[in-house]
Amino acid sequence: MASYIIEGGRRLEGEVTVSGSKNASLPIIAATILNPNITKLYNIPNIHDTQITLEILKYLGCKLKKNHGRIEVNSKNIDKREIPEHLMNQMRSTVVLAGAILGRFKEARFSYPGGCDIGARPIDLHLRAFKKLGINIIEDSGFITCKCDRIIGANIDLDFPSVGATENIILAAIYAEGITQITNAAMEPEIVDLAKCLNKMGAKIEGAGTNIITITGVEKLKSISYTVMEDRIEAGTLLCAGAITGGDITLKYKTPEHITPIIHKLEEAGCQIQIEKGKVHLKANRKLKAVDIKTLPYPGFPTDMQSVFASTLTTAKGTSMIIENIFENRYRYVAELKKMGAKIAIEGKTAVIKGVRRLSGAKVKSTDLRGGACLVLAGLAARGTTTVTNIEYILRGYENLDEKLRNLGAEILLDKEE
Ligand code: UD1
Repeated sequence: MASYIIEGGRRLEGEVTVSGSKNASLPIIAATILNPNITKLYNIPNIHDTQITLEILKYLGCKLKKNHGRIEVNSKNIDKREIPEHLMNQMRSTVVLAGAILGRFKEARFSYPGGCDIGARPIDLHLRAFKKLGINIIEDSGFITCKCDRIIGANIDLDFPSVGATENIILAAIYAEGITQITNAAMEPEIVDLAKCLNKMGAKIEGAGTNIITITGVEKLKSISYTVMEDRIEAGTLLCAGAITGGDITLKYKTPEHITPIIHKLEEAGCQIQIEKGKVHLKANRKLKAVDIKTLPYPGFPTDMQSVFASTLTTAKGTSMIIENIFENRYRYVAELKKMGAKIAIEGKTAVIKGVRRLSGAKVKSTDLRGGACLVLAGLAARGTTTVTNIEYILRGYENLDEKLRNLGAEILLDKEE
C-alpha cells in the first residue's frame, strides 16, 4: 500500500495545469466501442480508472495505441460481449461499458459494478431504462445478461437525474430504431462532453446539458478525433488546496463556468478569485470564514467536492454546516480528519464543522477517492507530518497530484513501500 508523506504548513504559490476529466473520459472511452472505425482521444488522464477501462476494451478485442494522454481505439474487431468480473469490480463506472456493448451488439453480460464505498449505489435506474428500450434482462448469481433483437427508442423518465444512467441510455440508444427521450436527465458537463464526442462521430443527440435529452437513432458512426474536457473536480480540489494553505495560486483552466458553485463558496469563505481568459486565480486569507454547503445534482454544488471542502473548512473561523444529498455514506473520511484535530459532528446527512485554530499531522487512511484527497489537503495545512495511507484510492482519480502540489511549493512525497 502506497502513502503520501506530507510536511504541513507550506503556503502554496504558483501556476498549475488541470488534467483531462476522469468522469468525462470514462463514458467517452466507452463510446469508442460503438464506433467500428478509429477514434482518437486527447487529454485522457493517466489514472487507474482510465487504465482499467482501457484494459476492458483490450479484453473485448479493441486495438489500442497509447501515447501519454493520446489514445487511439480501433473497435472494428471486438469479439467479446462480456466484461470480466475482476475488472468490473474495480469501479462503478464500468457499468457504462454495458450500454455501449449493448448499443453496438444488442447483447452484454456483466456483474454488478464495484467502486468507492460511498453508499448503496444500485443500478436499478440503468436496468429499468434498458428494459424500456426493449432489452431483456436476466439476473443470476450476481451476473446480468442483457439481450434483444432490436433496440427500440422509448421515452424514459428517470426517478433521479443519475449521471451514469443518463450516459448508459445515451450509449445504448445511439443505433436504436426511432427516437429515445430522457426526461429528468442529468445535466452534468460530462454528459455534454459525451454527447459532443458522439455527435462528432455522427450520432444525433440533442438537449445534453438540459434535463431533456433526445437521441435519434443513426445507422453508422465515423472516425473522429476528440479532446476531452478538463477535470472540474481536480480544478476545485487544487483551488481548495490553495485556500486551506492561505495560498496564492493560478489554475490553467478554460472552463470556470463548470465550477461556479465552488468559486462562489470559496469567495464566501473569504478567498479572492479572479477569472481571466484560460486562468483562474485564487488568493486566500490566512484564515477562512465558515460557510454552509448542500450537495446537489449539477448545476448545484458537486458531491465530489464535499469532503475536500469539509477539510478546507476545518480551520475556518466559525461553524460550517454541510448537507450531503447525493450519497448516503460519504462521511467516512470524518473519523480520519478527527485524528488530526478536526471538530466535526455527523447527524444523518449533515456534518457540523467547528473551525479549530490548526490541525496536527497524524497517520490517516484514505477511505475513498475524494475522501483521500481531503486528507491530503488537511496534511498540507497541518502542523507537522501527515502520512496518508491507502492512496491507491487517490491514484484512481487524480493525475500526478503529488507532483502538481510539489510544483506549487508543498512538501509531499509518494512512498510506494508503506
Ligand atoms: C457519477 C460520478 C461520481 C459523482 C456522481 C454524482 C462518474 C464516473 N462518477 O457517479 O463521481 O459523485 O456521478 O455526481 O461519472 N442511483 C440509484 N440507482 C441507479 C443509479 C444511481 O439509486 O440506478 C443513486 C446513487 O446511489 C446515488 C445517486 O443516485 O445516490 C447518484 O448517482 P449517479 O448520479 O448515478 O452517480 P454515478 O453515475 O455513479
